[in-house]
Amino acid sequence: MMMAGSKRYAGMVICRALDLSSSQRSGTVAIPLSGRGPGSSCGFFMNEQMNIVIVGHVDHGKSTVIGRLLADTDSLPHGKLQQIRELCERTSKPFEYAFLLDALKDEKAQGITIDSARVFFKSANRHYIIIDAPGHIEFLKNMITGASRADAALLVIDAREGVQENSRRHGYMLSMLGIDRVAVLVNKMDLVDYSREVFESIRREYLDFLNSIGMEADSFVPVSGIKGDNIAVSSPQMPWFAGETVLGTLDAFSAKEKDTALPARMPVQDVYKFTRFGDDRRIVAGNLTTGRLGVGDRVIFYPSGKSTTIKTIETFPPPAEGEQKGTPAAGDAVGFTLDEQLYVARGDLMAKAGEVQPKVATRLKVCLFWLGRKSMVKKKEYALRIGTSKVKVNLEQIDRLIDAATLDSNEEAGQIGRHDVAECILRCEQPLAFDLNCDLPETGRFVIIDDYEIRGGGIILEGLADDQSWLRNKVLIRNIKWEKSSLLREERAEHYSQKASLVLVTGTKDSSKKELAKKVEAHLFNQGRFVYYLGIGSVLYGVDADLKTIDSDSRAQNRKEHLRRFAEVAHLFLDAGMILVATAIELTQQDLDLIQTILPNQKILVIWTGDEITSDIAADARIRSGLPLDNGLAKVKALLQENGIVFKG
Ligand code: GTP
Ligand code: MG
Repeated sequence: MMMAGSKRYAGMVICRALDLSSSQRSGTVAIPLSGRGPGSSCGFFMNEQMNIVIVGHVDHGKSTVIGRLLADTDSLPHGKLQQIRELCERTSKPFEYAFLLDALKDEKAQGITIDSARVFFKSANRHYIIIDAPGHIEFLKNMITGASRADAALLVIDAREGVQENSRRHGYMLSMLGIDRVAVLVNKMDLVDYSREVFESIRREYLDFLNSIGMEADSFVPVSGIKGDNIAVSSPQMPWFAGETVLGTLDAFSAKEKDTALPARMPVQDVYKFTRFGDDRRIVAGNLTTGRLGVGDRVIFYPSGKSTTIKTIETFPPPAEGEQKGTPAAGDAVGFTLDEQLYVARGDLMAKAGEVQPKVATRLKVCLFWLGRKSMVKKKEYALRIGTSKVKVNLEQIDRLIDAATLDSNEEAGQIGRHDVAECILRCEQPLAFDLNCDLPETGRFVIIDDYEIRGGGIILEGLADDQSWLRNKVLIRNIKWEKSSLLREERAEHYSQKASLVLVTGTKDSSKKELAKKVEAHLFNQGRFVYYLGIGSVLYGVDADLKTIDSDSRAQNRKEHLRRFAEVAHLFLDAGMILVATAIELTQQDLDLIQTILPNQKILVIWTGDEITSDIAADARIRSGLPLDNGLAKVKALLQENGIVFKG
């Protein structure tokens, strides 16, 4: 509890935040003003920082509260307050704290910076950045695109005017953005004779509203921005109020978790292959957005679920001899080599085993803010970018639309107009790895691109079930229940001089798939490899005997289950260390994704046979029909070598 009249929050701090958007880790830089006392350093080493947004109905006193906070925490440039007061006197204008903020904004040129929308100060506990949103559209835009991030909010309500429509709308906006640390300031208490009844009645009314939208306010504080009551010092005018001041309330907000203490996430930026001078390193590079990673950590790549261990940490330039490479932490750009050569690509999200894992889904419940001139509509394809991954996306359903200008809500909207905020469902073409915004904002936020421009952005509220969720759950349970052999995968690989793999020969009808597959099988067998040819028909009439296969309709209906069983059979062969050469007609990318979901850590080589490419599958090689089978075989052999599936010798 703070003592009335005390000056606990001494120390000037006006700092400049450097590009918060780039890493969301603030680079707060001290700009000492006049070298006054201990505060003249910005407290650069006090690393805890909290971003606070201040919202409320027009004229309810946001700027005044901020100005007063700066003044009462001794955060203003020396003589500034006096200077503005004198200026007001000279021009016969009543003094306003809002002028103070304007004046500070104007002083950028003189090296004292208060960002147009951000004000900086510190208490004994931590640094604060107050985001005085010029308008809630700007604020929503900044929050959603990641330009700024608010950890907590101050919501100002004028004691005389009481709860206004905007007070409610702003409350709703905060809840939508997942800002749950909120203090409600009932301001201008001086105008209602510091009446406890007025305060209590506003408190009750607003609390009821917050409860109705599922929010809890941490505290309500009766204040007078103008007089400074309960801003940084407890007010003698309101002895009936036993709670904290505004500053005390801010300090009492629990600290946000440090990015390094959060689960590790690294969106893969690129995979660099080194081939010169016998260097065969593959370096997986990216920015570690949260957490820490080190050599020996088991890492998992999403959405595939492929997993391996970090072998080395690569930095550029390489550390000098004898110098430690250290442990990369949130915010660092890093490169790793892995114990196993996995097929990892830009867009994958790397996480660390044993920590909370990202989610994978194709359907997302999001809160989206639209900026495009043309409305966002259903049945149109957009691109969704999250981290380094980019997937095609459609607007599936609009649950609720809020006009960001008026914050009016519409539940039957057919499209999302400019500056609308929508709670909606997006459907991605491929599984996407992400986090919920409330868990990890860095990987829980996306932008929507159309025509190479950012048209909107949003935060992910929930991952919804899709048609592969059933599969992923089955695979997860299978993996958990798996009876492990005492032999390691590496031991089998060494024994057979090969890496277990699935060679999938697919293509148009009559394109010699089976002939090619059998030729590959015979060749590998003669080389002493452990290999087996499996036609999908062999699964269809055996393992799948209980599934209807009588006509093409029921076969199509059961296609996914057929493929799942086929892939599970393949999984057994592969676990035994075998190269499985399988054939199936005209597989699509979706089929391959399904198979890959079941074989997450396995290499699948796809060979397309036939003159026409009639599917969207991404094939590793294409073999035209009509050519001698030996040509096809040579291609497959080369691929097996290139991919390190058969070892020389
Ligand atoms: P906008 O930025 O325009 O939305 O307004 P705001 O919320 O920032 O309000 P501002 O701080 O500009 O205050 C609006 C008016 O209310 C000004 O004339 C202030 O002097 C006055 N005001 C603010 N706080 C108090 C207070 O505690 N008591 C009294 N009597 N007047 C106040
Ligand atoms: Mg203002």
